[in-house]
Amino acid sequence: MPHPVKIAPSVLAADFLRLGDEIRRIEDAGADSIHWDVMDAHFVPNLSLGIAMLEAVRKATNLYLDVHLMMDNPEKYLKTFADAGADGISIHLEVHPEPAGILADIRALGKDAGLVINPDMPVEKLRGRVGGIRRLLLMSVFPGFGGQKFIPESLARLREARALLDGEGREDAELQVDGGVGAGNAKDIIAAGADCLVAGTGVFRAPDMAEAIRILRG
Ligand code: DX5
Ligand code: ZN
Repeated sequence: MPHPVKIAPSVLAADFLRLGDEIRRIEDAGADSIHWDVMDAHFVPNLSLGIAMLEAVRKATNLYLDVHLMMDNPEKYLKTFADAGADGISIHLEVHPEPAGILADIRALGKDAGLVINPDMPVEKLRGRVGGIRRLLLMSVFPGFGGQKFIPESLARLREARALLDGEGREDAELQVDGGVGAGNAKDIIAAGADCLVAGTGVFRAPDMAEAIRILRG
């Protein structure tokens, strides 16, 4: 049975000068969670949202904070992000090709563990590695920047990932997609099996955020 579709606005596309208002706007618009992109200028060629800012946002909202670590050595920062208020922490398979240990460490901190793969990582590499995850995130752009174009092959990869999760007895795991998601492709993405859509530009730059979220839900 398909899960209800969740929408996770990516703060990367927010107006940082008015971050408090932007968080309220996400809440009022009916988002399910907040996607928090952390970039280290090493694993990806950009720097983004840090820890002090996450702490500030934690104080301002009860929404689920879904932290996406686009960084090398994420294992050194798990407790820092957990203490700063993350509800879920996702790490890249590219950084931890055998992720069981770090995923267990995330769970030991009382947080949901997530696993992420880039567009050029074969979905098959996830086989045997999805135990204990709350969510699987498929990047539909190469990470580092918001506002990129959705890579069309991601639809087939979503179908493959959904089948793999189901085959591994992980029907309960959320399948997320991140990058270039918007009104024009949400229906296809949901039909391909995604049940959580991350969207930055698609929600923050929309004239009406609530309407944009309704449209994304399909
Ligand atoms: C990309 C980030 C995404 C990004 C999505 O590196 O992981 O979360 O903010 O932004 P849009 O929706 O603008 O592609
Ligand atoms: Zn992200």
